[in-house]
Amino acid sequence: MPLSLSFPPHNLSCFSSSLVFGARKTKSLKILMTLSPPPKPREVKNDMRKQRSPLEIEIKEVMTHSMHPEKLEIFKSLEKWAEDNILTLLKPVESSWQPQDFLPDPSAEGFFDSVKEIRDQTAGIPDDYYVCLVGNMITEEALPTYQSVFNTFDGVRDQTGASRSSWARWTRMWSAEENRHGDILNKYLYLSGRLDMRQIEKTIQYLIGSGMIIGAENNPYRGFIYTSFQERATFISHGNTARHAKDHGDPLLAKICGLIAADEKRHEAAYSKVVEKLFEIDPDTTMMALADMMKKRITMPALLMFDGRDDNLFNHYSSVAQRIGVYTAKDYGDIVEFFVKRWNVEEITGFSGEGRRAQDYVCGLPQKIRRMDERAQERRVKQSQMVPFSWIFNRSVLV
Ligand SMILES: [Fe+2]
Ligand SMILES: [Fe+2]
Repeated sequence: MPLSLSFPPHNLSCFSSSLVFGARKTKSLKILMTLSPPPKPREVKNDMRKQRSPLEIEIKEVMTHSMHPEKLEIFKSLEKWAEDNILTLLKPVESSWQPQDFLPDPSAEGFFDSVKEIRDQTAGIPDDYYVCLVGNMITEEALPTYQSVFNTFDGVRDQTGASRSSWARWTRMWSAEENRHGDILNKYLYLSGRLDMRQIEKTIQYLIGSGMIIGAENNPYRGFIYTSFQERATFISHGNTARHAKDHGDPLLAKICGLIAADEKRHEAAYSKVVEKLFEIDPDTTMMALADMMKKRITMPALLMFDGRDDNLFNHYSSVAQRIGVYTAKDYGDIVEFFVKRWNVEEITGFSGEGRRAQDYVCGLPQKIRRMDERAQERRVKQSQMVPFSWIFNRSVLV
């Protein structure tokens, strides 16, 4: 999955959401974020009690288990369907690529020559591209969080850690495929010799320790909508880093990013197929779940990223991604538009009054997002500044 970038990155300055779902009482999740000037590099003492994130988060009460218990049957009845339609989208291990297929063999005699070749190839890569690549890699490396979150979804969680249910097998095997993404990027970037690996490793540790904010309420309707968006976002982002790598004269890195993008595309196909099925058998609930997730905005999994220095690291990283076109606010609008078409949202009939209102809201969303994007673009140009990134030894990059 993963890839960060809240959607759209520049609208992160402050948002809050409250929601009502079913007959439950209104609860709220309030997140406060500040856009402050870049802080001077400083170290934070390694004290778990004082571990901080770039965000000040005030979680008053988060809605949980918002799916009505009777809907559990739906996911049970879809076990066989998932086996035939979703598990088939995974690749068998024996025919899957592994990081070692694209990295120098440490047992080979020419290992050091191969490493030198990688260093020569990565020599022309600019700092802003490295920032995006590292941010993407860190997001992939926080995989334990994503598997944990998946197992918070009612009706599809892995009950034992080795459950034979289709949903549980999917989660484990999907995670196993994802695990290669962080692995290969981490090893390749390590070999490049251009990065402060300790700072990167610290960021990964902080991020896994902080978790993520998903807003799915243990509800698989919402969970599958979120993962559909996420996989498409990562497909776009890794696809763009692949193109950039080629332009910067590193065909191997382009190949690596392209392989990851292809995996994300397969994952997107699986998750969006589940949502398509849910629209078919339970359109009202699915429609309202989609509208609500859109109202809250899909936040990216690495939102809580921190390196021990920059309180605003995620915003800075996503600003660079926006500026160099690795992942942009326009991409978010395109993703919303893509899924409105993919799930045929405009054509579905038979909704309740609430379902129709949710449908109208979602169908009008792509245009709204584009208008907001234009305004954000203007603000962005005015607010450009140089910001140091610890991942690249505190060299500054325009954000
Ligand atoms: Fe993925
Ligand atoms: Fe991934």
